[in-house]
Amino acid sequence: MTELQQEIRRLAEATDALILAHYYQTLDVQDIADVVGDSYEMAKQARSAEASTIVVCGVHFMAESAKILSPEKTILLPAPDAGCPMADMVEAEDVLALRAKYPSAKVMCYVNSSAAVKAVSDVCCTSSSAVRIAEKLDTDEIIFVPDRNLGRYVAEQVPGKQFYFHPGFCPIHDRVSAEQVKQAKARYPNALFIAHPECREEVLALADFIGSTAQMIQFTRKTDAAEMIIGTEIGVLELLQRELPQKKILSVSASFVCPNMKKTTLRDIYESLATGVHEMRLDESERQLAYASLERMIEL
Ligand code: 13P
Ligand code: SF4
Repeated sequence: MTELQQEIRRLAEATDALILAHYYQTLDVQDIADVVGDSYEMAKQARSAEASTIVVCGVHFMAESAKILSPEKTILLPAPDAGCPMADMVEAEDVLALRAKYPSAKVMCYVNSSAAVKAVSDVCCTSSSAVRIAEKLDTDEIIFVPDRNLGRYVAEQVPGKQFYFHPGFCPIHDRVSAEQVKQAKARYPNALFIAHPECREEVLALADFIGSTAQMIQFTRKTDAAEMIIGTEIGVLELLQRELPQKKILSVSASFVCPNMKKTTLRDIYESLATGVHEMRLDESERQLAYASLERMIEL
């Protein structure tokens, strides 16, 4: 560990803080975290942690979710301008318009969304829990926001229900093409291709495994395959390359980088812990409504 990393760990202990990091964070940030996980794990940890402060190394909606679930805790987002462009593609008014159009449907919102959108939804989901929640939700009609790619993937896995989509997408996952996957497969014919469900339909059709970031990591750890092509952000690639040097692990595209996930630096974390700057705050009535959707996700 570098001196700055050690100093962050010392500060975290001294201030009773738990550091959560998403798998898309840079490795130096992942290395000082108490827990590194996917969105679902981060939400669960934020809800059950005993620490009085939670530092969220990720993007804005992750810190918001932590505050929604644990309002009594101090939630710090060291890089306050780290947003998620997909979350910004849907607003509460869009959800209300869809509700008016499909009055008998329930609204399922991907956790990559604002507190205001969660507040007007019936249930939230993450990429690892979306199929299970769609199956269990007591309705035959589901409005899915904001990710059209994840929504379409879930609809395919739950054929008995009618889905209505919003045209949001992740600009990072959506720009990967089937042609890029085919080229990578042609160069490495023995490699397995694994993809995040935020990728396009034609990309997912070429995948040997589809799952959340945590599920992709689990799959790569367990498989006997010696060569892997990773269809998600390079944080996952870097973690796997370091952990499994005996395997050949490649990215499907050199530009598979989420700039917002790379905004959190060690210096930001240090500053936030040392001064308490960049604390997440939410309107209490909106928080309570959003809480119901997130809590239902964890129950289901
Ligand atoms: P996970 O739910 O797999 O953590 O993904 C979050 C995300 O932002 C993917 O782009
Ligand atoms: Fe949002 Fe895409 Fe970045 Fe995930 S990878 S945080 S969905 S922009």
